[in-house]
Formats: sequence, structure tokens, C-alpha cells
Amino acid sequence: MKKTKTKGKNKALFRCENCGYESRKWLGKCPDCGQWDSLVEKVVVSAPSGRKQTACRPLPLSSTGGSEQKRMISRISELDRVLGGGLVPGSMVLIGGDPGIGKSTLILQLLGALAADGRQVLYVTGEESARQVAMRGRRLGIEGNDILLATETCVESIITMAAELSPALLAVDSIQTMFTEEVASAPGSVTQVRESTALLVNLAKSTDLPILLVGHVTKEGSIAGPRVLEHMVDTVLYFEGDRGQPFRILRTVKNRFGSTNEIGVFEMKESGLAEVKNPSALFLAERPVNVPGSVVMPSIEGTRPILVEVQALVSPSNLGTGRRTAIGADPQRLALLTAVLEKKLGLTLFDHDIFLNIAGGIRIDEPALDLGVVVALLSSFFEKTVDPTTAVCGEVGLAGEIRAVGQIEMRIQEANRLGFTTFLLPMSSYRRLEKIDKHSMRVIGVATIQSLVEILF
Ligand SMILES: Nc1ncnc2c1ncn2[C@@H]1O[C@H](COP(=O)(O)OP(=O)(O)OP(=O)(O)O)[C@@H](O)[C@H]1O
Ligand SMILES: [Mg+2]
Repeated sequence: MKKTKTKGKNKALFRCENCGYESRKWLGKCPDCGQWDSLVEKVVVSAPSGRKQTACRPLPLSSTGGSEQKRMISRISELDRVLGGGLVPGSMVLIGGDPGIGKSTLILQLLGALAADGRQVLYVTGEESARQVAMRGRRLGIEGNDILLATETCVESIITMAAELSPALLAVDSIQTMFTEEVASAPGSVTQVRESTALLVNLAKSTDLPILLVGHVTKEGSIAGPRVLEHMVDTVLYFEGDRGQPFRILRTVKNRFGSTNEIGVFEMKESGLAEVKNPSALFLAERPVNVPGSVVMPSIEGTRPILVEVQALVSPSNLGTGRRTAIGADPQRLALLTAVLEKKLGLTLFDHDIFLNIAGGIRIDEPALDLGVVVALLSSFFEKTVDPTTAVCGEVGLAGEIRAVGQIEMRIQEANRLGFTTFLLPMSSYRRLEKIDKHSMRVIGVATIQSLVEILF
């Protein structure tokens, strides 16, 4: 380990190449991530105390003109909505997703849409050759001279390019292939990813250029690189979907300029990603009718209601204790609801295998799903079908009580639009209903899971 001499006010600082941990002393093993021999010395030059600081002058908030900034609309409405109503000038958007899910396709289509509107955009790729991108462009029917393509991986060159061309949007595919000359480590390493992103953030904020970054994801499904990456950017989107299914969901994880939990639904076709305007119909398309273990739940994703089918299979286990599997829902939540059913309804479920699935490859995180899960479990356990025009939603508490959920009117309206006429909802939500005509439909308030069984079957 060679230690450079630090003179005067310069302080030595050792930074882990793997996780970014900083230490005043050199250490053989990083205490944060456990990596061996990963600490590298950085010389930090502290400002001489006598020097006059040219600090930025604070301005009144009202004089900075934040309200006039116009968002850039792509007219791919599923994408615009997820962004909170279009791209904000100077914003950094990070799109993560599994390999081959369609990130580059989505970006190229966005660039194509902006170019078709007469804007000049810059696409920088470090992953594919110009020929490969052009081939994809042809397949997607994207042409024109307004998409400038560069196969470049040096961030400094990208910044120069952006200054020369001043495009309306810069897309970088992917941040893991980029490097800055300031850092010696290999592209894709934590320090490189962080420093390269920092330079691009600086470019975005100083020139009002919106930048789109593609990020790889790790085995665990989070964006590869330092955790701080997600803090550095304004918006984080995940592009997800089931490999076997053509449907892709673009989900907001973080958004400084719009609602999170917003989703955009697409279908992957030969000609690219097509918007799915009516996701409820899509997720219910293959719903089996009059089969036990299936029920429909109106979920709220961001600002939009989406109907999903909750499926459960409860069958005696061949082993001593049953298995619990949840796809598209939280397995902990399934365990909790199973325990509530055992305790409050006296069902014997420990020796049953329980499988839960949200059909269509969508993932639902909201508590309103609870009642759907409980109804599907009961329906499968008792081998009794739920009336196919019934939709249910509500949170289930540990005492077996059914608790209120938000936006109940919007849920009922969406379900009604698709032909559902019976609604089971929490009693407290039922009492608060105003806009809904309770008599033209069968709207039933339920207070506990005990009363649920009587109403259902
Ligand atoms: N000819 C085709 N017909 C239909 N779908 C295609 C065709 N070619 C590619 N695709 C779809 O496009 C997907 C790849 O898209 P894309 O290259 O945009 O993904 P990506 O997320 O950028 O991948 P990577 O992580 O490797 O960069 C494939 O998984 C496939 O679903
Ligand atoms: Mg790609």
C-alpha cells in the first residue's frame, strides 16, 4: 500500500471502491461491505482559510421562476403519466429493469416520439453498436434525422457533445458502461457509476437538459451500483414484467415531480411497445368464471384504478406443514392473513399448501388487497365459487376486522364500468359513500371476516 504524502491542509481520505465507504485510515477490509483490499486513497484538497469564497447568492424563491417550466410531453401517454405529466426540464430519470425487458426499446420509442415532434434528441449507447440500434429503429418504425446516435462511454465526451448539440433530451444507455476520466476504477464499479452520474446530474441542472439513464439491476432486483444513485436522480422508474408474458409495467419508485406508485402498462410486440389503454380489461381477459379460488379486486395504482384477479389454491399438503407461496403479492401478508383465518374462523390451514397469485404478472402492494386474498382463500378452501360479478376490497386487521381503504368510489366506478354489480367493502367505507347509488348496485359493507363468510356463501 503506497501512501502519498499529504502536505499542509490536504487531508488523506480512503474510499472503498466497492461501496463508497470513507475512512481517514487505510484498512485492509472495508468495514461496511466486507470487501478486502478495496480502499483507495483520495486526496481531498481543503480550501485555504484565508481565501474568499465565491458562494452562490441566495435568491427569493418567488424570483426563480420555477412555475414557468414547461414539461416535455412525448404523447406516449402511459409514459407521460408515469413521469407525472411529462419530462421536467433539467430532470434526471433513471430506468431500471431486468436484462432484455425492453429498456432500450422504450427509450428509443420515446426518442422517436420526441423527434417526430420536431425536437432534436441525443442517444448515447455504450452497449450496442450503431448498426444494432439502427436495426432496432427500423423494426420499431423509427426514422428521421432528429435522433442523433453516439456510441460513446466517456462522460466528459458526452458532456462536450451535449454542449455542442444542445439536444432537447439526452438518453444514456446504460450508466454501468460509462466512465469518467476523474476516477481510475473500471466502468460499472460503484465509484465510477456514482461519479459519472454526478457529472451528468450537474449537466442536467446547469443546462436544463433532461437526461434519461438506463440502469442495470442486480440479482436481488435493485439498481446496480451505489445506493446513493437513487438519491442523486429525480425520478426512478422500474420496467418490469413476466418473461413469459408480453405485458410490461413501468412503475415509479421515486418521483420528485409527480406521484409515486403510478404505473404504465405496455404490451411488447414485434413492432415495439404498444400502450395498453384499458389495463383492467387486460388483467381480467382470461379470468375463469365459476371456478373456486378466484375473485376480482379493484386496486388503485397511483391515480388510476385497475382491476386485478386474485387467485388462490388451498389444498391438503403431502408434507407435514404446508407451503406458502405468493406471486405478485407480499408473502408476509399472506402468512398474516392465513393466521387470522385460522384464529378467527377456526380453519385448519397449517397442513394445507397455499398458493396465491395475482394474474397477469402485476404486483399489488396496497393493503386493500387483503380482502381479495381472504375471499380467494376461503373460496378455494370451501370449494365454493364467488359470484363472477362480485368485486371486493378492504384491509384486514389482526382481530379479523375489515378496515377502510381509500378512493373507494373510484374503485367501484371502475369495476362497474367493466360489468361488476356486487361490491363487498369495509363497513366504515360503506358508511362514507356519497356519490354512489347504493341501490342500483349491490354494495355491501362488511365489518368482520366472520360476517364475510355468511354474506359470501
Ligand atoms: N423481433 C422481435 N419481435 C418481438 N419482440 C422482440 C423482437 N426483438 C426483440 N424483441 C423484444 O425486445 C426485448 C429486448 O428489448 P431491449 O433490447 O430494449 O431490452 P433491454 O432491456 O434494453 O435489454 P438489455 O438489458 O440487454 O439492454 C426482447 O426481450 C424481446 O421481448
Ligand atoms: Mg438495452
